[in-house]
Amino acid sequence: MSNAVLEVKELVKVFGETRAVDGLSFHVEQGEIFALLGPNGAGKSTTIRCLTTLLHLTSGSIAVCGHDVVKEPDAVRTCLGYVPQELALDRHLTGREHLELSARLYRLPRAQAKARIAELLELVELAERADDPAKTYSGGMKKRLDLACGLLHQPKLLVLDEPTLGLDVQTRHRIWTFVSRLRESGTTVLMTTHYLDEADQLANRIAVVDHGKIVAQGSAAELKQGFGGQVLKLELDGDAALSEAQWTAVRALEGVSHAEPRGKRILFVCADAQALVAPLTAWLEGEGLALQSLSFGPPGLDDVFLKLTGHALRD
Ligand SMILES: Nc1ncnc2c1ncn2[C@@H]1O[C@H](COP(=O)(O)OP(=O)(O)O)[C@@H](O)[C@H]1O
Ligand SMILES: [Mg+2]
Repeated sequence: MSNAVLEVKELVKVFGETRAVDGLSFHVEQGEIFALLGPNGAGKSTTIRCLTTLLHLTSGSIAVCGHDVVKEPDAVRTCLGYVPQELALDRHLTGREHLELSARLYRLPRAQAKARIAELLELVELAERADDPAKTYSGGMKKRLDLACGLLHQPKLLVLDEPTLGLDVQTRHRIWTFVSRLRESGTTVLMTTHYLDEADQLANRIAVVDHGKIVAQGSAAELKQGFGGQVLKLELDGDAALSEAQWTAVRALEGVSHAEPRGKRILFVCADAQALVAPLTAWLEGEGLALQSLSFGPPGLDDVFLKLTGHALRD
């Protein structure tokens, strides 16, 4: 028996001419935070809406806690809590009223609901503002209220679509703290994000999604390891650019496994970046090229993403 809380197999979702999801397979295990990481339009929300039973699948299969989304949608909905990308709050209702409404949707018994709502308001640090209308809340408070609504019926799987979209840095960090706490309390989380740092910080495992396909998956450390070396980045002074002959020469320097231009910068992939610094700077000097800056170290997820997809995540 696998420990999978979610099993997505060969999922395809077509909208007219658009193959929004083009053969995705992944699984999420009990107790982990799994992130779908990809740019806008990659197919993340569509995947989420298929597995939350909100969209029909074109083909493939999805099981949530062993229940098939097509054959047993009610059982699936009981197992999961869903916090959509777009906020779904009513401006005039208070925080507490939102939770009470959700409790009725999930058919929680009254007494149980009251206790659970009080507990959740504490968890998301909204207890003091619980009886103010949602229109008076900040973006971060609204998001926290949404999170609380998703957690109300103690779902086995919490699904967060872009949980920190558009929030400021401080508020994002606060949401991360909540999500980490959920993991500590045993909740399994599937989240989507287009923030590299978010996936890097929070997720046990990441699936990198581009154009409806998974291009790599693993822990952040595994993905970085798969990059195939360290990175060294340099920026030449002024408008200097390498000639064809210089590119050939620099690529042939000992220790360089890959070199490519990135705007005004050059990126090198190498086994030992530190060992490359001396020969590289000597070569540049010999060519009469001056340096603006140089940095090196292990690759970041941004480097991994660029290598896997051929474009930066922000594009
Ligand atoms: N209801 C829809 N009808 C038509 N096209 C859609 C619909 N929903 C999403 N798409 C398209 O599917 C692709 C993936 O979108 P989406 O899943 O929202 O991406 P992401 O969440 O990764 O930003 C995009 O090209 C988007 O325009
Ligand atoms: Mg989306």
